[in-house]
Amino acid sequence: MPIVHKGTVVDVKKVGSYFVLTATAADIPKDFKPGNFVAVAIGDERSSLILRRAFSIYQVNDRGVYGGTVDIVVSPHGPGTDYIANLKRNDPINLVGPLGKPFSLPKDPVPCVLVGGGYGAAPLFTLAEALTARGCRVDFILGASTQEKLFGMLEARRISTTLSVTTDDGTSGVMGRVTDVLPDVIKKSGAAVVYACGPMQMLKAVSEVATLHGIVSQTSVEESMACGIGVCMTCVMPIIGEDGVTRMLRSCVDGPAFRGDKVRWDEVGTIPADTWGAPEIGGH
Ligand SMILES: Cc1cc2nc3c(=O)[nH]c(=O)nc-3n(C[C@H](O)[C@H](O)[C@H](O)COP(=O)(O)OP(=O)(O)OC[C@H]3O[C@@H](n4cnc5c(N)ncnc54)[C@H](O)[C@@H]3O)c2cc1C
Ligand code: FES
Repeated sequence: MPIVHKGTVVDVKKVGSYFVLTATAADIPKDFKPGNFVAVAIGDERSSLILRRAFSIYQVNDRGVYGGTVDIVVSPHGPGTDYIANLKRNDPINLVGPLGKPFSLPKDPVPCVLVGGGYGAAPLFTLAEALTARGCRVDFILGASTQEKLFGMLEARRISTTLSVTTDDGTSGVMGRVTDVLPDVIKKSGAAVVYACGPMQMLKAVSEVATLHGIVSQTSVEESMACGIGVCMTCVMPIIGEDGVTRMLRSCVDGPAFRGDKVRWDEVGTIPADTWGAPEIGGH
């Protein structure tokens, strides 16, 4: 069960374009699984920014001098993310978590490719550790528009068999997109699963490459969220079920990780007409 935790900021570090914030988080680390996220309150009880903001959990620590702590990676670009990036050591912070369904792990020790776009790499490092503990080979691909927006290169190199890097402008690694190198990494590693987190267009493209190679993908989506706990339906996405029927699923509780080939990427933000329970246009 997710808990509300009134914590304290332990540290905020600038890393490239991002800020890595560590906060005390009581029992969140004990219940955490790779792919979970936290919802962070913006400002105090009198804040006009009433909606919490969602952040993938990057690292957890359930020992140490602070008891449980949680790390998140923040890309400042709006009032909520700016607020968090400007927090200082010892400031109060209010978190709800762990939220969301974690990534599914393969039953057998199969090779896996992990693809992170920008700060989307954040949830993949604990996933890599969990996969490695199961005996899975892990190959990493990190991509971003430019070098400053790559996240976690050293860590990815440490934990993976190979690391491939792409940037749109060629300032680091191969000039291009993660999907330019993905087919080669899949072939060389013999991957059976691709895990990806990053912008929606990247997830769509990664899912298409995985399907083309006959392997499964799990994509962690970043749909707009309001409540984060399944009650408001802000975050719904059209997902095809095992029975072939599309349903609008809540990415905060049914996701954020979905099978890539089950997401109707081109219809995200709409309710496709053949969705279960969709309103009939012109009907009675
Ligand atoms: C599962 C998940 C994991 C994420 N992980 C990270 C991460 O690791 N690092 C990171 O930097 N960002 C992450 N994000 C994105 C981050 O939550 C947003 O960038 C952040 O909410 C932006 O807040 P803002 O005030 O700075 O920007 P703004 O863009 O000004 O505000 C966005 C906020 O407005 C509200 N909102 C927007 N659209 C709607 C709508 N249609 N209906 C209702 N409310 C709406 C939401 O509360 C939203 O959070 C993640 C998002 C999700 C869903
Ligand atoms: S954000 Fe409210 S149901 Fe998902």
